[in-house]
Amino acid sequence: MTSGRLAPRPPAGRPESPQPPLDYGVVTYRVAVAVSGRGSNLIALCDALVDIPDVAVVLVMADRPATAITEAKRRGIAAHLLAAPAVAAEWVRLLEAAKCDLLVLAGYLRLVPRDVIAAMKGRVINIHPALLPRHGGRGMYGHRVHEAVLAAGEPESGATVHLVDEEYDRGAILGQGRVPVEPGDTSESLARRVLAVEHRLLPAAVRAAARSGRPVPFAFS
Ligand code: GRF
Repeated sequence: MTSGRLAPRPPAGRPESPQPPLDYGVVTYRVAVAVSGRGSNLIALCDALVDIPDVAVVLVMADRPATAITEAKRRGIAAHLLAAPAVAAEWVRLLEAAKCDLLVLAGYLRLVPRDVIAAMKGRVINIHPALLPRHGGRGMYGHRVHEAVLAAGEPESGATVHLVDEEYDRGAILGQGRVPVEPGDTSESLARRVLAVEHRLLPAAVRAAARSGRPVPFAFS
């Protein structure tokens, strides 16, 4: 354990210019995040880790130009647009170069190449905006998930963090956060409620993984 690992947190509000690269020399649990979109879970995770010694997001990878990439760069995090997301080599090179202990899929919309899963065996997690094993699988992302929950008349929904294997949303469940489905909910209102839980659930999963040295089941309320 060490101290003084990260550049000081920027003052409240958006700084005018990108932050200088963070000093990761003393980070001992190194997290990579893969994204495809706006990156609100990435932001929540980075914010939650600011005060945790020795754990940090050190690498962000995207399969498309994503707002999340801009946000990562603004925070001084190494961020890469993958040239060929379906090919493992670039992933593995980046993950190894950054000495990543954990790969987090936070709104990453494609299958991760199986050789990446093999290289990071047991160290890849995903966050899904429903209570798996229901309402997951290929094509179940974004508002489709919440529409399916509403169409099924579920009394509750939530978010799930699970281990990633070669199929969509199928690996062992590590933790879940629950929210009620309210009368009159639309997919938008339900998505907002679920997202608020996601922003606490994912940091809880990463904290638990960092404590154990690998992703583990964790309690969440
Ligand atoms: C989240 O709902 C996450 O559960 C799902 O994709 C969405 C990503 O949102 N896998 P964001 O990019 O983190 O804002």
